Amino acid sequence: MLNIENLTKIFGANTAVDNVSIKVDKPMMIGVIGASGAGKSTMLRMLNRLEDASSGRILFDGQDVTSLQGADKRRWQADCAMIFQQFNLVPRMDVVSNVLHGTLNKRSTTATLFNLYPTSDIHRALDILERLGIAGHAAKRAEALSGGQQQRVAIARAVMQDPKIVLADEPIASLDPMNAQIVMDDLRRLHDEDGRLVIANLHTLDTARRYCDRVIGMRHGRVVFDGTPDQLTTGAARDIYGADASFSEAATSTSIEALNTPRPAAVPA
Ligand SMILES: Nc1ncnc2c1ncn2[C@@H]1O[C@H](COP(=O)(O)OP(=O)(O)O)[C@@H](O)[C@H]1O
Ligand SMILES: [Mg+2]
Repeated sequence: MLNIENLTKIFGANTAVDNVSIKVDKPMMIGVIGASGAGKSTMLRMLNRLEDASSGRILFDGQDVTSLQGADKRRWQADCAMIFQQFNLVPRMDVVSNVLHGTLNKRSTTATLFNLYPTSDIHRALDILERLGIAGHAAKRAEALSGGQQQRVAIARAVMQDPKIVLADEPIASLDPMNAQIVMDDLRRLHDEDGRLVIANLHTLDTARRYCDRVIGMRHGRVVFDGTPDQLTTGAARDIYGADASFSEAATSTSIEALNTPRPAAVPA
């Protein structure tokens, strides 16, 4: 379904993504790991065309998305929703309006200017918030929510787009372990329950191992590992992160694993 061919991005003298080829045959959850500066964000940004490739192609269901322009490009961007480390919500706007923003690229400019949403969309937004356990916050301003709740609003906004691919760039890097676990569980559900392809850049090894079907390791812009979590041995991790003999998994670990408490059914008010 997704075929990345020899994708390269050059910034001046710096090759951020270097001849990357990745083939994905069916929807799954993929984790991309690697040290800071390895090219993870640049690769995701090229996938949804926030950044143009220097060379190479991205084919989705046979169509080259790297050359799309105008309305076609916007349609593709709606098809691959992006979730960011810093949530990227409109802080002063209420939660449900933030979620409704997920339909922006499908609506007319006039409707957008006057903030007119069809009732069916509002109901759908509320259903999605309900599913993510945050419907109780629908009327609050986004800025009034905790980081974990805000990231769930961002996930709701992504689902509102009904995307084929969900891209997440270090979605839990700003969250405490409990919220990190909730957000990762939610991303996993977007694959398990909705059948979407989820690609997440992750800053920790244990999260990639625990949640992903496939792990891609990047170093200096290149793919240096591509396999299952089982194949991601300490030795493989050392190659990805380029650590010396003192490499410790603890350095690339969140404490999600240490949290043995079951996931709470609802968010405490
Ligand atoms: N807009 C940009 N202009 C110039 N260099 C950039 C830009 N974005 C990223 N880079 C460089 O590209 C490399 C890869 O960055 P990035 O994709 O952000 O890595 P990662 O997400 O793995 O930390 C880094 O050397 C970074 O400095
Ligand atoms: Mg990054």
